[in-house]
Amino acid sequence: MKNTVTDRAKYAAAAAAVDYVKDGMSVGLGTGSTAAWMIKCLGERILEHSLKIKAVPTSVSTFELATQCGISLTTLDEVGLLDLTIDGTDECDENFNMIKGGGAALLHEKVVLAASSQRIIIADSSKYVKTLGKFALPVEIIAFGWTSSKQKIECLLNELGFSNFKIDLRQKNGVILKTDENNYVLDLNLGKIIDPILLSKELNTVPGVVENGLFVKLCDLLVLGDISGGVRALHSESGKSIESVVDFGTKI
Ligand code: A5P
Repeated sequence: MKNTVTDRAKYAAAAAAVDYVKDGMSVGLGTGSTAAWMIKCLGERILEHSLKIKAVPTSVSTFELATQCGISLTTLDEVGLLDLTIDGTDECDENFNMIKGGGAALLHEKVVLAASSQRIIIADSSKYVKTLGKFALPVEIIAFGWTSSKQKIECLLNELGFSNFKIDLRQKNGVILKTDENNYVLDLNLGKIIDPILLSKELNTVPGVVENGLFVKLCDLLVLGDISGGVRALHSESGKSIESVVDFGTKI
């Protein structure tokens, strides 16, 4: 596939983030197009620096790409906890709350991020938003009785004061999409999410909901790339922001 202009921004964030991977680490690998750049950059870094790392993929697609890139893989059960995870996001707000799951891997991504000591989120700078919700919020639900779970979610959203929302069952090529865990995904078009912490808690109380795509307190460092190679790394704890520039060379 041909690279787009946004790919340069994704690449910049990904290339900057892999500098944080050190010899001996156990590393979680996210899913999506930005994470795919990170996996390619990581494969190169492993070769250049003879790094010995063990990585845990968050999806079948990440497993396949990481294998192609020569990254040695393990399972979360094998390592238990991870030193570092690098993953993409669909949106991230100024409080480092995120919407994830555009690639339908939110369940494994949340488990892997929660098991990591350090969490680096990479994105092109358009994903950094004031308020979450323009991107539809993915919610993973079991297939059994999914219409009833959808109705329960509608009632919940009404109770929480959401109006004019729309919920879609995610499909791919005309068929219902199934996650790596064989579940369905509902996309909640909400417009604005004022209280992501409350919404996340409430959604997970609905029977049939496995997990939702609001990621709270799961980002230590947000690395934003732009198309000219500029990178801004924002630390959630200290509030520090560090700027750098990635040299694209002939890479992209
Ligand atoms: C996968 O389920 C998602 O959480 C991705 O991390 C997110 O959708 C970002 O994907 P892109 O990097 O492709 O935008």
